[in-house]
Amino acid sequence: MKRPARPCSAFLALTFSILMLPIALAAQGEGMAPGGTPTPGRPTTDQQMSGEAVFYQNCTFCHEHDAQKRRLVAQFLGPTLIGLYKAKNPSDDVARALILNGIPKRMTGFRYTLIAKEVDDLIAYLKIR
Ligand code: HEC
Repeated sequence: MKRPARPCSAFLALTFSILMLPIALAAQGEGMAPGGTPTPGRPTTDQQMSGEAVFYQNCTFCHEHDAQKRRLVAQFLGPTLIGLYKAKNPSDDVARALILNGIPKRMTGFRYTLIAKEVDDLIAYLKIR
């Protein structure tokens, strides 16, 4: 009698997952979630980490969105700012001025909300986002 094929396909599936693992990890390192959606870069220094916290407290309302948010409030949303520095590489002065002054009718200014250190941390985070 023939043996059932099950153990063999389980072995193939396992081998396949092990072979694919480095590819999945490499894809994450590139800032891509499965399906090709860009994901924010991960902070590594203390400054980038506190900048990330400032970002999630003050900026995500407009600068992080999913499909549902885009459907409901698209006109209020800004760009996700993922890869901002790869695309535009603004100087620290330009980024600081934009954050402090905001953009008329589009983005709140943070002149009275954030202290200088928070803005510096935020810029350090935006560079790796
Ligand atoms: C009320 C919504 C809102 C909040 C809160 C907000 N932004 Fe914005 N932001 C916008 C919009 C909308 C734009 C795009 C404006 C345009 O292009 O017309 C923008 C643009 C930007 C840009 C320029 C992006 C580019 O591609 O040039 C940067 C940088 C930025 N925001 C950073 C921040 C940071 C950092 C915070 C948090 C401290 C923040 N924003 C909070 C709405 C917001």
